[in-house]
Amino acid sequence: MSKLKSKTVYLCSACGNDHPKWFGQCPSCKEWGTLSEYKVSKNRAKGDYGQARETQKLEDILIGGEVERIPTGISEMDRVLGGGILPGSLVLLGGNPGIGKSTLALQILPAFQKPALYVSAEESESQVGLRARRLEVQSNTLHLSSENRIEGILDQISLIKPELVVVDSIQTIFSSELDSLPGSTSQIRECGQQLLQLTKQLNIAVIIIGHVTKEGIIAGPKMLEHMVDTVLYLEGDERHDHRILRSAKNRFGTTNELGIFQMKTNGLVQVDNPSELFLAERQNDITGSTIFPSLEGSRPILVEVQALVSNANFGTPQRNVNGFDFKRLAMLLAVLEKRLGTNMGTKDVFVNLVGGLKVDDPAADLAVITAVASAARDQLLSNSVVLIGEIGLGGEVRSVSRLETRINEAKSLGFKTVIAPAANVKRISKHVKRIKVSGISSVGEAFQILF
Ligand SMILES: Nc1ncnc2c1ncn2[C@@H]1O[C@H](COP(=O)(O)OP(=O)(O)OP(=O)(O)O)[C@@H](O)[C@H]1O
Ligand SMILES: [Mg+2]
Ligand SMILES: [Zn+2]
Repeated sequence: MSKLKSKTVYLCSACGNDHPKWFGQCPSCKEWGTLSEYKVSKNRAKGDYGQARETQKLEDILIGGEVERIPTGISEMDRVLGGGILPGSLVLLGGNPGIGKSTLALQILPAFQKPALYVSAEESESQVGLRARRLEVQSNTLHLSSENRIEGILDQISLIKPELVVVDSIQTIFSSELDSLPGSTSQIRECGQQLLQLTKQLNIAVIIIGHVTKEGIIAGPKMLEHMVDTVLYLEGDERHDHRILRSAKNRFGTTNELGIFQMKTNGLVQVDNPSELFLAERQNDITGSTIFPSLEGSRPILVEVQALVSNANFGTPQRNVNGFDFKRLAMLLAVLEKRLGTNMGTKDVFVNLVGGLKVDDPAADLAVITAVASAARDQLLSNSVVLIGEIGLGGEVRSVSRLETRINEAKSLGFKTVIAPAANVKRISKHVKRIKVSGISSVGEAFQILF
């Protein structure tokens, strides 16, 4: 028997790489003062290299056919994952404190026919039980555990043989082989790696919940995000009860799809018609408000763009933007000034996409520039118009993708007029009924119709 000796390496808290000796500056990511000691047990280090796994032929894998994804019972979640959760995948679910991570996790677990395990290192079983009662979660295959040692969790997994494991949260579990505290870089890395090995070896799906720092990234080494297959974020703003689930990384699907929920007493409820939700609080009698049919993945969502323009009191005028690209706004303001003769140089400009959506689709340009112009001129717009179009430096309006989908969404919510790029409109005009579509080729033309 070999003696249990430990080897020391130095681990970077920024990038998660390890180094044989200590440096003031991490040789990998060049951050200063991020290395700290990390003891690896020699036995295990050896085991990691000793037993090679068998190789497989691509042909055999292809013959096996498509791997079945497991539906989570919540279609908004499935949409974001790319059609359910894949066995053998590791998913990181991040979000601000209190946003609803544990709620979401608890709501998807009962969908599993085979055993599932919910490890709540943060809360006791009875606290989880109380929440389950409130959420009306019922399951005879769901196991709860408040184990917080990774070794104990691995034992429970080999005992229960679950199809899905949720670890809530990665910052509260630890390996008893390391003497650092839960939540430290070395603990997060060690536990993350053990969970990764387990998902691949046993072909089970694991969701790890992670806290998010003030800067909006998952607390812990960046490496955690590289290690997992999918990174999901649950977002929302405190003033509203809706939550947005988006994926920041997905090895098995696109990152364009959004899931939209409302937080209610009985948990997160899927929103079938997000446009209605995002337009619910719209006021009809304010200037600087326009509607843009955004495309989030495969789905159109109408969003309200709000702008406020006021005289700048001190020196450099302020530009403040929420949910839209800052540089793009600067470009649009320059077009407004140079091509349409609206003085913006001495004005503070605030632009906000209502409801916390972030849009990086240039098709939103026309709605944004029109909202700003309406605010600057203090002129009201008709509240039954939607605006679509990308704007070029000459003030020309360029065609956009999937105009018909966008128009249909506007139509279904009772909007009467669409102002859209002429080049697009020519191609689709035959198919559009019961809504007026005006094709324009410049911002000036749009303003002539609107103001
Ligand atoms: N009785 C209730 N009725 C309605 N909503 C509730 C109720 N109890 C809790 N909530 C909602 O659930 C949220 C907490 O959800 P949850 O515990 O799932 O969040 P979390 O992201 O796991 O938080 P943490 O970071 O603390 O683990 C609260 O902020 C609140 O919005
Ligand atoms: Mg929680
Ligand atoms: Zn580093």
